[in-house]
Amino acid sequence: MSMPYKPLKTPVLIINFKTYKESTGKNALKLALLAEKASKKTGKQVMIAVQPTDLRMVAGKVSIPVLAQHADPEPQGAHTGSVSPEALKDAGAKGTLLNHSEKKLSDNVLSEAIRRCKELGLVTVCCATNNTKAAKVASYHPHMVAVEPPELIGGNVSVSQASPEVVEKSVKSVLRVSRIPVLCGAGIHTTKDVQDSVRLGAKGVLVASGVVKAKNPYKEMIAMLEGLV
Ligand code: G3P
Repeated sequence: MSMPYKPLKTPVLIINFKTYKESTGKNALKLALLAEKASKKTGKQVMIAVQPTDLRMVAGKVSIPVLAQHADPEPQGAHTGSVSPEALKDAGAKGTLLNHSEKKLSDNVLSEAIRRCKELGLVTVCCATNNTKAAKVASYHPHMVAVEPPELIGGNVSVSQASPEVVEKSVKSVLRVSRIPVLCGAGIHTTKDVQDSVRLGAKGVLVASGVVKAKNPYKEMIAMLEGLV
């Protein structure tokens, strides 16, 4: 039996900690506390996606929603190495990213992972690399879809600048399938990058290096949140 659908507040800034040294272990907690401070200062929704090894520790210390970066659909039991949705929930995750281009899932596994997570009341933010894939993953009914062209990830040019049509087309293609908020990500650094994303129809942004690798991550979070209206 499915848990009731609980929409999250948008627009939203999601910071993906990936496996950077600057966002692992003690550094993950420091960054998470800064994200919480930025959310409180601006009154805007910030979520963070941390590694499974940091999840319980971080989720116990901050009030903003903490996501996992990946979940497997396998249930609890004899499934060595799997990250079960039950374990994520028990560790304090409010949800999870799924199908990030650095952790891709096959269609069957993805749709089952979304179903299993939703059953437990976990928020699902499903990534896609382009507008066709965005529409495809939207048909599995995650809570949000995040479009990220892989070639722009980790770079200095944002998706909203380099490929605005990917964002616009994704918003349109997803809306044809379901009323799911679409986020965009890849190369996002500035207030303008975020403003442009919102203008293109995105309900938020998914970022990593622009915050995690910055000299002053708090300053960058605030700058991005200024563009999120
Ligand atoms: O999940 C966010 C991500 O892939 C974007 O990375 O470093 O380009 O902000 P980045």
